[in-house]
Amino acid sequence: MTEPVVDVHLEADHAARALASDARTGLAASPKTLPPKWFYDARGSDLFEQITRLPEYYPTRAEREILGDRASEIAATSKAHTLVELGSGSSEKTRLLLDALRSAGTLRQFVPLDVSRTALTDAAAACAVDYPSLKVHGVVGDFTEHLALLPGEAPRMVAFLGGTIGNLLPEERAKFLGSLRDVLEPGEWLLLGTDLVKDAETVRVAYDDAAGVTAEFNRNVLHVLNRELGADFDVDAFSHIALWDPVNEWIEMRLRAEKAMQVTVPALGMTVSFDEGEELHTEISAKFRREGIAAELADTGFELTRWWTDTAGRFGLSLSQAV
Ligand code: AVJ
Repeated sequence: MTEPVVDVHLEADHAARALASDARTGLAASPKTLPPKWFYDARGSDLFEQITRLPEYYPTRAEREILGDRASEIAATSKAHTLVELGSGSSEKTRLLLDALRSAGTLRQFVPLDVSRTALTDAAAACAVDYPSLKVHGVVGDFTEHLALLPGEAPRMVAFLGGTIGNLLPEERAKFLGSLRDVLEPGEWLLLGTDLVKDAETVRVAYDDAAGVTAEFNRNVLHVLNRELGADFDVDAFSHIALWDPVNEWIEMRLRAEKAMQVTVPALGMTVSFDEGEELHTEISAKFRREGIAAELADTGFELTRWWTDTAGRFGLSLSQAV
């Protein structure tokens, strides 16, 4: 077995500094805002895993259905030597791709990139065991910042799955896709998962499930601030809100202060006041249409060459080529 290599592009205290900086900016803003990446400590990652199994949360199952049906077609089209996975979340979906590329006979290297060093090391180690001839080269980094350092032999296929691109605002998406295009050679590939626009109620309940798991996931960001920044959020005094925005075609998650509160954040030397009913914005999750995502890809130097949806038409998977 080849030992996996893991490059660390983040300083040991990167996460702590970035959280402090995001919280300082976001809690002083109007409306107050926190970026969704801070949901995912160990508990938050576990809650997200539970979300993917909820009856209301269709995106994970829909994307898995597409990958199950199309992985061999994706492998035959891309003939990728390297699979790069951004935010290497669910190893189950990754394996569908690795298996198909291995069967196609082109696979040589796997490059998972994740901000979480432990998630990355575990993923890299498991793959090295199950794919003994595969070179595994993990990168600990932030996909919005560390694309320039992506290793791997061309042609590479960069997989960005789960619909996570929907957590970025349109201008952030353009910046991200543009920098990804900059590090690829013409002819290399992007495999992009995008949740699709559909009736508002289906989307809303996917983000406000009956069992309350998404509510706990949303509130978890306050536990993260309490632990990491010494804050004293009364977490149970915030209620979960999921709101469909029909103009922007995204679902928003917010945390509503059910009473007026003063929250101290010692690590930032800040006291933050919430009015009763004030809403802290914690996530947008944009939903896409084929023409819209094709245009965003074209604007950033990609040509959408293949497009698949699940049978119910809820989720889209596109395979694009750097022009
Ligand atoms: C993992 C970012 C794709 O936006 O649907 C799940 C996160 N938020 N429920 C999404 C999430 C609320 C999820 N992504």
